[in-house]
Amino acid sequence: EDIAGQRRFEAIIADDSRIEPRDWMPEAYRKSLTRQMSQHAHSEIIGMQPEANWITRAPSLKRKAILMAKVQDEAGHGLYLYSATETLGTDRDTLNNQLLTGRAKYSSIFNYPARTWADMGAIGWLVDGAAIANQVPLCRASYGPYGRAMVRICKEESFHQRQGFEILLELSRGTEAQRKMAQDAINRFYAPALMMFGPSDQDSPNSQQSMAWNIKRFSNDDLRQRFVGMIVEQVKVLGLSLPDPDLRYDEESGQWLHMDLDWDEFKRVVSGGGPCNSQRLARRREAHEDGAWVREAAAAFARKQQNEKNQ
Ligand code: 3HC
Repeated sequence: EDIAGQRRFEAIIADDSRIEPRDWMPEAYRKSLTRQMSQHAHSEIIGMQPEANWITRAPSLKRKAILMAKVQDEAGHGLYLYSATETLGTDRDTLNNQLLTGRAKYSSIFNYPARTWADMGAIGWLVDGAAIANQVPLCRASYGPYGRAMVRICKEESFHQRQGFEILLELSRGTEAQRKMAQDAINRFYAPALMMFGPSDQDSPNSQQSMAWNIKRFSNDDLRQRFVGMIVEQVKVLGLSLPDPDLRYDEESGQWLHMDLDWDEFKRVVSGGGPCNSQRLARRREAHEDGAWVREAAAAFARKQQNEKNQ
């Protein structure tokens, strides 16, 4: 490998500065970032589905407009992240194909069903909340295009989290049936949301190298505990509870300890055996087919423009 390049790369990392697309980088760095960034993009795109299913069933025009804006944001985050990934040398069609053929990973959380309107609140509050806890440190990722993409995305995620919390707050102040619906949604999304932070540190094959390259700034468990510490306070405002009998504050470590997570379930869902995996991929393939005419029209128009320019 290029010795001078390796030295420059190591000096930039040691200096906690940014690696840009044209800088020399170890192939392993390029590969791991392509892995993480493309999976992040896939997560945003698949993540549109659970919420999109509720746009036509939103309880008011206000809620419908907010939910549409949120789903649109997720699409934008996906496209933003695919563009950032392309700077590492893998093109959009290749990335898209990896998802469409079921070979790519995306966040397990989106393989759970959104059964009631309260799920829109639990997803906004817990899933986007966990995403923020995980993504704020990524704003300082050593790879320039990724860190910069995170700054824009985190701003929009904050709106997503606030609107989700507001949905739950309204339900928690409603009828007994509405309170129950909100609690039920929290019960179903709490543990899967904690799994968004990845496996425990000792079972995380990428963490050590990712932290050495200043991509991951805090360990999976640290961010997970930080997130639990946040929602423990917020759930009090809702007058509801977190479905975690082992939740307690450990004075010594100053951390919130939560119940053991079901890592067998995690592995099953990540490897395709979750409640909605096949439905999510089928919908994605269908949407890709439905959009073919737009891609063809745009390509034809680009060719026409190019021909006119060449004349
Ligand atoms: N779902 C699916 N796969 C997961 C996962 C999850 N919840 N958590 C971990 N994994 C995978 C990892 O990708 C890795 O597999 P790979 O080597 O084939 O990529 C394996 O499990 C082991 O995990 P590691 O901890 O070793 O992997 P990482 O160091 O990459 O850490 C991560 C995992 C914390 C998810 C990290 O990749 C990351 O920070 N990714 C960017 C954030 C992201 O993707 N968030 C998705 C959330 S959804 C979202 O943002 C949409 C928003 O609108 C809600």
